[in-house]
Amino acid sequence: MRRARATAHSNIALVKYWGKRPDSDPALNLPAVGSLSMTLDELRTVTTIGPGDHDHFALDGARVDAQSPVARKVFAQLDRIWTESHDGPRPGCEVESVNHLPTAAGLASSASGFAALTLAAAGAFESELELPRLSGLARQGSGSAARSLWGGFVRLDAGTAADGNDCIARPLLPADHWDLRLLIVHAAKGPKSVGSTEGMERSRTTSPYYAPWVETSPQDLDAGEKALRARDLEALGAVMEHSCFKMHACMMASVPPLVYWRGTTLEVMHELWAARKSGLQGYATSDAGPHVKVLVSAAQAEALGERLAAVPGVTGLQSVAPGPDATLELLDEAAT
Ligand code: DP6
Repeated sequence: MRRARATAHSNIALVKYWGKRPDSDPALNLPAVGSLSMTLDELRTVTTIGPGDHDHFALDGARVDAQSPVARKVFAQLDRIWTESHDGPRPGCEVESVNHLPTAAGLASSASGFAALTLAAAGAFESELELPRLSGLARQGSGSAARSLWGGFVRLDAGTAADGNDCIARPLLPADHWDLRLLIVHAAKGPKSVGSTEGMERSRTTSPYYAPWVETSPQDLDAGEKALRARDLEALGAVMEHSCFKMHACMMASVPPLVYWRGTTLEVMHELWAARKSGLQGYATSDAGPHVKVLVSAAQAEALGERLAAVPGVTGLQSVAPGPDATLELLDEAAT
């Protein structure tokens, strides 16, 4: 084994993933629906892996208890990558992960985190796995991570194979295809209420809107991809908002309800729609949290950002461009 460092960027789903395929092995983490995303510049995780006496995991400079759920997920991911290309027990690993995601941005670190971890482990274990296979392995760590191995615009299809071998992401278009910005409008502070994995299962088992949500996803994916290729912001925006609102309707109709929005979330959306009437063409999405993410052309990003930042209750705003591919650096040849 050797030391290796990987950088992977976060991503935003323009067409959303919510729900897992029923009757499948939970360890495969197979989504019930595909998704379409834009990789985000600046917002990234850098993960370095090298040999160690035991498994150690440090996050943002602080050692994480090896028995904690987070550390166990990290070590389980290392096991997966090791067993893909090696027999016998996996060597101990020192894993250091640093998130360059602004505090309170409300962006999950799991997408960039599991993508960087997967790529760094493949480098450290000299596994020589192809990117599509690594995408499948990243998906097992966290569904959205499968999309973060590539820059620009990425599609993850749900697939049909029982072993998930066709549930891998693929790059559609590079970052320079379209000069867009994502405005991340911070609508509240405080911890996330219910995590995605738990929330998805609650929606699947209790929400009357879950079945239609799953059934109507493929058409959104195709319409979203078409609009993206044509650089048609109005068409992409319409699909994106529809996918977001269907997902949140499905969440809200779960028992007990999953309401990730706050009052400010809706105030920002109303301001966005008012701004659209005056010619600023931005479109909203939001994930399992209160923040609003707005897709807009680079040319209109500043004017729209100023307007949304002025909505009472907004605590911050960041403008992010489409981001690059994940990268891997092989460091010294430290042998075990
Ligand atoms: C609402 O990828 O965090 O952000 O696979 O259970 O780890 P797990 O879920 P995760 O879910 C992301 C859900 C979402 C929509 C999306 O990113 O597609």
